[in-house]
Amino acid sequence: MAGTGTGERVPDFSERVLRDALGRFATGVTVVTTMTPRGPLGITANSFASVSLAPPLVLWSPARKSRRFPAFEAAPFFAIHVLSAGQQGLAERFSLPGDGFAGVEFAAGLGETPLLSGCVARFECRHAAGHPGGDHLIVVGEVLRVHQADLPPLLYHRGAYCGLGGG
Ligand SMILES: Cc1cc2nc3c(=O)[nH]c(=O)nc-3n(C[C@H](O)[C@H](O)[C@H](O)COP(=O)(O)O)c2cc1C
Repeated sequence: MAGTGTGERVPDFSERVLRDALGRFATGVTVVTTMTPRGPLGITANSFASVSLAPPLVLWSPARKSRRFPAFEAAPFFAIHVLSAGQQGLAERFSLPGDGFAGVEFAAGLGETPLLSGCVARFECRHAAGHPGGDHLIVVGEVLRVHQADLPPLLYHRGAYCGLGGG
C-alpha cells in the first residue's frame, strides 16, 4: 500500500503479517443473524465489541467483500449470539458460503430476527449507526434485549477454536 498524502507512511508489513499479529488477540466467537426478504441469514464474526452502557451500544464489523454484506448493511434489526464452547459447529457453519440456516432451528425475535439457543449471551439490536472502517463497515447496534446463560464460552485464537484453559 503506497502513501498518498502528507504524513502517510507506507506500511513495512504485509497484510499476512498484520492478520497473524491481529490473530494473537484472543476473542470470543459470535454469530450475527438477521431476517432478510430471502429468509434468515447468519455470519460468524469475532469483531464484536462493547461500546457503551448508557445508552446500551455494541458493535461488529462486516467485511464489504462478503456476499452477506448488503443484507447486513441494510438490516434494521440484528442479533449477536456469543457462542458457547459446545457451539463450534455453528461457528463453522456460519462461516461457510450460504445463509447457514439449513436445518437450524430458530425463534423469531425483534423484527423477525432469527434467534439461536444455547449461546452464552445474546444481544438483540436495532441498527443505530454505520461508520466507515476501511474494507469493513463498523455497525453500531442499540441493544434492545439481552439474554445470558452460565455456559463456558467458545474462544478463537491464532486461527483456531479453543476453550478456556485450552488452545
Ligand atoms: C472466527 C471467525 C471470525 C470472523 N469474523 C468476521 C467478522 O468479524 N466480520 C466478517 O465480515 N467476517 C468474519 N468472518 C468471516 C465470515 O464468517 C465468513 O467466513 C465470510 O463472510 C464468508 O464469505 P461470504 O460472506 O462472502 O460467503 C469470520 C470468520 C471466522 C471463522
